Amino acid sequence: MSVRIAPSILSADFSRLGEEIALIERAGADWVHIDVMDGRFVPNLTFGAKVIETVRKLTTLPLDVHMMVVEPEKYFDDFAAAGATVLTIHPEVSPHLHRQICRIKELGCRAGAALNPSTPLDAVREIAGDLDLLLIMSVNPGFGGQQFIPHSVDKVRRARELLAATGSRAVLEVDGGINRQTIGQVWRAGADTFVAGYAVFAADDPTAEVRALRQCCMETA
Ligand code: DX5
Ligand code: ZN
Repeated sequence: MSVRIAPSILSADFSRLGEEIALIERAGADWVHIDVMDGRFVPNLTFGAKVIETVRKLTTLPLDVHMMVVEPEKYFDDFAAAGATVLTIHPEVSPHLHRQICRIKELGCRAGAALNPSTPLDAVREIAGDLDLLLIMSVNPGFGGQQFIPHSVDKVRRARELLAATGSRAVLEVDGGINRQTIGQVWRAGADTFVAGYAVFAADDPTAEVRALRQCCMETA
């Protein structure tokens, strides 16, 4: 299994977004994670289609769009047209999850489901085989720079078992508080894709940080 590093631009310096993205691209980042927040599902506001479109022009890397919004289907068409590669939605606010996942795929994007720390894996069990990505939140979503919740490690382990048991080929991503101290344990637990915002963009040298995170996984392989 290979390690995929997905820096979140939530903690980037937006006045230098082009440079920040070039830095992580040079460091070998695999995806760019874009946190869309609506001030309703989570207590914070960030950005929408315009920023996705802007980032699309700045890089050829896949754009991993994490939709922390109610009624996410309202934005599928615009986000797909803006160049999103993956659209990940939250079952907590997506009662018709199967239909919504199918719609994302119809639009030519990969479809993901993200689970809050308090949401059981059962929320996706029936449709695990339909997912391209399963995202385990290791903080309560809404803000960058929060502390990793330790029992997320066991949830990642059980999520890997669920994907194996259902024959799902979904990417298993973990998001929140990922840094040099925490990444190794979630990698060993079975995650393959790691979002990191604060750890990368608040570092003196974001390029070195992306490489260091990957190295931490290699060392604990
Ligand atoms: C949290 C977001 C995360 C966040 C991660 O609501 O979904 O993607 O940017 O940030 P760090 O790595 O700073 O915890
Ligand atoms: Zn995120």
